[in-house]
Amino acid sequence: MGEYWNIKPELEDSVKQHFSAPPEAEVELEFEVPEKDFNTAGRGSSEVKDLLKRLGVDSETLRRIAVASYEAEINLAAHSKGGVMSCMIYDDLIHLRFLDKGPGIEDITQAMIPGYSTADELVREFGFGAGLGLPNIQKNSDALHIQSAKGSSTLLELLIFFSAP
Ligand SMILES: Nc1ncnc2c1ncn2[C@@H]1O[C@H](COP(=O)(O)OP(=O)(O)OP(=O)(O)O)[C@@H](O)[C@H]1O
Ligand SMILES: [Mg+2]
Repeated sequence: MGEYWNIKPELEDSVKQHFSAPPEAEVELEFEVPEKDFNTAGRGSSEVKDLLKRLGVDSETLRRIAVASYEAEINLAAHSKGGVMSCMIYDDLIHLRFLDKGPGIEDITQAMIPGYSTADELVREFGFGAGLGLPNIQKNSDALHIQSAKGSSTLLELLIFFSAP
């Protein structure tokens, strides 16, 4: 089982605290992300963005959340047999979780390299497959965690804090 972590150094303590004892979320939402359905993929991220906007989250943070969650949703549709996006909203941060039904990522370090892509013809016809989604997710998140292996499901989760210290 491969595991990958990237945490902004100044947020390491808060991130570890969150994952070791996740508090109860203020709001929880779930969205199905079906395989190869690029209309449905993207709905979760857009609904979450609208909700957070109404809750008063600033526009730069909204942009980061929208980019990271959209790329992660598209990856489920493009590269997996589909899965679920879960969204946990707290006072100070959002925790997004993407769990799919496989086929998994054999080498996560390789998948993180800008330009690396295994996107098939159909996915490329929809304009995806530049190999920039995962690097973009990392750039826009305060913490990124990926767990996967060949032949199993992939879990990708990220945290974005509403007010950067
Ligand atoms: N949920 C997933 N399941 C299986 N493989 C994945 C998953 N997410 C990403 N990958 C693998 O990691 C590679 C890189 O992903 P990344 O999002 O960076 O690029 P891409 O999706 O191929 O292209 P882009 O995101 O630029 O449209 C993918 O091509 C795929 O091989
Ligand atoms: Mg992608």
